[in-house]
Amino acid sequence: MRSVITGTGIGVPPHVVTNAALSKLMDTSDEWIRVRSGIQERRYAEPGQGSSQLGVLAAGNAIADAGLTPSDIDAVIFATMTPDHVLPGNGPLLQKALGLRDIPTFDIRQQCSGFLYGLELADLFIQSGRYRRVLLVGAEVHTAFMPWHLGWDTLIGQSMREITEAERIENTASRDRTVLFGDGAGAVVIEGRDGDAGLGPIRLHTDGTGAGVLTMLGASFKRRPFVTHEQIDAGETLPIMSGKEVFRSAVTLMPQVVREVCELSGVAVDALDLVLVHQANLRIIEGVQKALGLSADRVPHNVERWGNTTAATLPILFHECRQQGLIKPGMNLMFTALGSGLHWGAALYRT
Ligand code: UT7
Repeated sequence: MRSVITGTGIGVPPHVVTNAALSKLMDTSDEWIRVRSGIQERRYAEPGQGSSQLGVLAAGNAIADAGLTPSDIDAVIFATMTPDHVLPGNGPLLQKALGLRDIPTFDIRQQCSGFLYGLELADLFIQSGRYRRVLLVGAEVHTAFMPWHLGWDTLIGQSMREITEAERIENTASRDRTVLFGDGAGAVVIEGRDGDAGLGPIRLHTDGTGAGVLTMLGASFKRRPFVTHEQIDAGETLPIMSGKEVFRSAVTLMPQVVREVCELSGVAVDALDLVLVHQANLRIIEGVQKALGLSADRVPHNVERWGNTTAATLPILFHECRQQGLIKPGMNLMFTALGSGLHWGAALYRT
């Protein structure tokens, strides 16, 4: 038996935020963001709209797409680094909102690799016979990280005021990160099916020596209390990132782990029909494509429209590829991601 994705869905918030809009808040430009990251626009959630709600939208669509009803789901895996609350996790919130049965819900993190880690768990659950139908959700609301008090409400039409020079300077200090992220959710239903189609080998890695290259220092339970006004004023509730180091790791380790999974599965790299790469930066995606020696049409991307949605990029991309008719029966598809942890990995999926 194999673990087969039988339904997909997305849940995206209403506000489209362009590069031009961001350049009204800080010293940046559409050209810089496009050239360095490929991103043209991203979505922002309404204040009060959490990642659990986006996840519920995506999950409802995925369950309907699979031809199932919520009561058919046997277990939930919810991957997010931006949950509604520190406790409880998004799993029980989604269970209540969708009216699922009294089933186990697992909350996992693993940031940009959350979806891959979720695939591994779902596959193990199904292969062991423990659960037959698993709902895997990746959802993020990154806008909660943004320095909202510095005029960010103007981006979603909640205020029309002019940004002060002091606010512009403060916003510019975090521009290397804030321009990259967007909000969104993707979900898949995974079921056990006989046949050749389904998840093939998955390889996951962790290197905690890289934990500091992408991390958030504020809102930490090592602090007393865990969050203070001072931390917010010092920008410590926004992630810090060594962009170049993450970039280098991404373009090296993702091709490496894709090759590893190819070897495990006996599928040659040039026999991969589609490689779905975590959507953080178009230059990274193109770097992975070139390192694998694949033509551009085999490495689709949508980072232009959504920005980096962390745990949600792969399920949103998979859903859009399906909708565009790019995924046909009998294909070898590879998922790969790398992010904070460092966590990275790849999974083969035969359609
Ligand atoms: O999901 C995993 C999470 N993260 C990633 O995958 C991110 C990986 N890293 C990257 O994508 C890239 O490193 C960035 C897009 C973050 C940055 O691109 P870069 O080519 O590495 O630029 P840089 O950091 O070398 O900065 C070049 C210049 C600097 O100015 P100076 O020192 O040359 O005067 C920055 O201050 O660009 C400046 N800069 C900006 N300028 C306009 C940084 N951010 C911006 C901005 N707008 N938003």
